[in-house]
Amino acid sequence: MTILNMTLSSDIKTPLYRQIADNIAAAIEQGEISTGSKLPTHRALADQLQVTVGTVTRAYAEAERRHLVEARIGAGTYVCDSRQSNSWVYQIEEVAPNECNFGYNIPPRFDRSDMLSQAMANISANPAELNEMMLYQPPEGIEKHRQIASQWLNQQGIAVSPELMYFTSGAQHAAELLLSTFCRAGDTVLVEHVCYPGFLTLAKQHGITVKGVEMDESGVCPRALASACQLYQPRLIYLTPTQQNPTSITMPLSRREAVISVCKQHDLLIAEDDINGLLPLSSPPPLINLAPEQVIHIGGLSKCLAPGLRLGYIQAPKQWQPHLSAALYNHSLMISPLLSAIACELITQGQADQVLDTIRNEIEQRQNIVQSYLGEFAITTQKHSFHVWLKLPDYWRLTDFITAAEQHNVIVKSAEHFTPPGGTIMPAVRLAISSPTSQQTLIFGLEILADLLRQPPMTSPFPL
Ligand SMILES: Cc1ncc(COP(=O)(O)O)c(C=O)c1O
Repeated sequence: MTILNMTLSSDIKTPLYRQIADNIAAAIEQGEISTGSKLPTHRALADQLQVTVGTVTRAYAEAERRHLVEARIGAGTYVCDSRQSNSWVYQIEEVAPNECNFGYNIPPRFDRSDMLSQAMANISANPAELNEMMLYQPPEGIEKHRQIASQWLNQQGIAVSPELMYFTSGAQHAAELLLSTFCRAGDTVLVEHVCYPGFLTLAKQHGITVKGVEMDESGVCPRALASACQLYQPRLIYLTPTQQNPTSITMPLSRREAVISVCKQHDLLIAEDDINGLLPLSSPPPLINLAPEQVIHIGGLSKCLAPGLRLGYIQAPKQWQPHLSAALYNHSLMISPLLSAIACELITQGQADQVLDTIRNEIEQRQNIVQSYLGEFAITTQKHSFHVWLKLPDYWRLTDFITAAEQHNVIVKSAEHFTPPGGTIMPAVRLAISSPTSQQTLIFGLEILADLLRQPPMTSPFPL
């Protein structure tokens, strides 16, 4: 372990974390610490310098942002080889962060331009295929692309097949096809009691009634689901079993089996939204693997590669294929083959896997930072989840907390956005921790939220 000798000054304007990062830079520059050496743990350096662990975390994040060091999962922080150029670097922010938006459910930002240019150059090298792609295609997309995509998904443990999967323009489009194929205006659809808002607005547009089903820490409760089936005679249930949006809950296998069993008893179709399914390193099998005859499976590349690619997919049991095909045809005839070509190029060149690793690594680091700031509060999340679901202490009213955070330039998403019409709004907010532009911005936002959570507001929600 390297000893870092440094003295910090509280007299100068530079914040302590930057002084530490500057000292690390100087030590590397002067050859006092060499490439590959391990830096002290956050706690050890904090004790040595008489600063908080949060300050050291922030300093190491800053040093990483400058590509001086790298955090290796479970191993510690190491000095980088500065000669190694890395095209997966995160965008460098020069502006001191004074606002933090936890609102967007997007992968962390980083430079994808090299991989995209390369993929497009490879595609351009084949004029015959390019010309082929300029023609109308069958609604389900080019067969070769479906082969490549389904094989990649199979490697990740998702039992889709090239014959049954249809490319869509993102998972949102897949949800649109789901509703137009399987539901009619006036039908009722069940969802988890807090749910992805894009599905709620879509259902509303289709004139479909949405009813929330109670959840516990393992997801939808089978008993509540059975009652809802009897009460509402629903057309289907829409579930996100892995890293649910907004709670981040992943249903364990036993719960998946219990939910499937209730659905089978009530002859209820399951729409499985697996948009986050590729993010965790391992998770229980998706519902499509467990009950392929009962499940319509939706997924896409927005969270694990890039939302701008707009590539998603849907797979339904075989007997529904003609209906799905007609829905896609009526909607847009097909999706652009150029998009599936780019995605397939990224898959075959190994870049899709690399991006996924980069996203996981960044999220894991951000989750560690979240734990150091919000660990003492009522949060639910997962190691590779983009979200943290934060239940507020009793002394905070939901709207007051959101307004107080906004006054400090920190944006969080109210439980209201995720609650189906008529459902009870929980005193909770979702923090999309992948959304802040850098770890530094994330830390800025978390510091504000932790301070707010620790102190009751000036006015109490309770009558005195
Ligand atoms: C649960 C869930 N499903 C679907 C989507 C839509 O994804 P896409 O960008 O692929 O349309 C999102 C986006 O945030 C989501 O959170």
